Amino acid sequence: MKRLQGKNILLGVTGGIAAYKSAELTHRLRDAGAEVRVAMTRAATEFVTPLTFQALSGHPVHTQLLDENAEAGMGHIELARWADAVLIAPASADFIAKLAHGRADDLLSTLCLATRTPLAFAPAMNQAMWHDPATQANCGTLCQRGLLQFGPASGEQACGETGEGRMLEVPELITRLADCFEQGELQAVKVMITAGPTSEPIDPVRFIGNRSSGRMGFALAEAAREAGAAVTLISGPCHLATPERVQRIDVETAEQMHRAVFEQLPQCDIFIAAAAVADYRPLDLHAQKLKKDHANLSLALTRNPDILSDVAHAPNSPFVVGFAAETVNLEINAREKLVRKNLDMIAANLVGLHKNEKQDIGFNSEYNALQVFWAGGAASLELDRKSALARRLIQLITTHYQQHKNDEKNPA
Ligand code: C5P
Repeated sequence: MKRLQGKNILLGVTGGIAAYKSAELTHRLRDAGAEVRVAMTRAATEFVTPLTFQALSGHPVHTQLLDENAEAGMGHIELARWADAVLIAPASADFIAKLAHGRADDLLSTLCLATRTPLAFAPAMNQAMWHDPATQANCGTLCQRGLLQFGPASGEQACGETGEGRMLEVPELITRLADCFEQGELQAVKVMITAGPTSEPIDPVRFIGNRSSGRMGFALAEAAREAGAAVTLISGPCHLATPERVQRIDVETAEQMHRAVFEQLPQCDIFIAAAAVADYRPLDLHAQKLKKDHANLSLALTRNPDILSDVAHAPNSPFVVGFAAETVNLEINAREKLVRKNLDMIAANLVGLHKNEKQDIGFNSEYNALQVFWAGGAASLELDRKSALARRLIQLITTHYQQHKNDEKNPA
């Protein structure tokens, strides 16, 4: 695992039976070429002795916040600065709650507040504790702040129950940690992507929706992450699993999506609008289920905000990429949108059957083919699975984004 070679890893061990696996983790991290220092909570020392970690890491273990010897050598601030990444494994429900509240009443929680490096945590607890809304909310808070959540896995638990909450196995933890040191072309670039349909309520049980599956947006999120970006995915209702290490924010309506996008906009370098946003929503939300009293029923609709256009026209707008699903005159319509919405690039596809392959493409399909346009150029991304296509599109966006950055630095 070359990516961990020479990296300084601070391993935080909290109180849980999975702490015994962290002994093996220490050993494997060193095998992978990392330098490891271990900090334990008091509860962790009840499960495994500091001596075990001292022997395996080759360094004294840190357990006390106010430790004269440690402060004279490597104190807690130095330790926080020394680390290239911090991994809390296992992370108990209690420790996760503490982190979520920014407490600093022991060495490990203080280190977590003091560090500026990537901070990952591997939850490990009983399945009921894991599913408790408090734990779920705390993990959500941490992920929103940019912490990386590794796991948990499912299976048999030490308490005899079966379910989600087991700490990830050591090889998986090592791979995830190594991924933090990925050197992609979008390293340190923040990418926000909208995906999926929106759902516009008519009454408590009915809504206006569309056939978007969210696959293209989710595939783009994964491809951008693989390229090293920090990715925020703002998704309408869909059943796709969140790609690893992508921050996901779920919304239902176009207005909620608009709000979520603008909340995240200050932290965005590239905005990609892959969502199929409903252009209209019912003017009135009926509080009670509509009765079928009439032969005909008309619903008054009102325009939704155009999220993409609003972002592209905002002051300090990021690099903006839109999508256009067209049924006719693809290039003319896409280029018109590129200009009208003030976009840097637009990826357009003809929805329906692909001409050569008899393959249903676009909405709710695994496949797509895209024509990409920008002021002065175009590229054709031939029919492919959305995952492969997403990688090619991210590559193209990266090239143009870097060009755009250079032009900003060196105006002609
Ligand atoms: O104008 P049209 O709906 O064809 O534009 C499609 C593009 O605009 C897509 O990128 C879509 O995500 C975005 N869009 C949006 N907000 C809307 C409508 C479309 O962000 N209300």
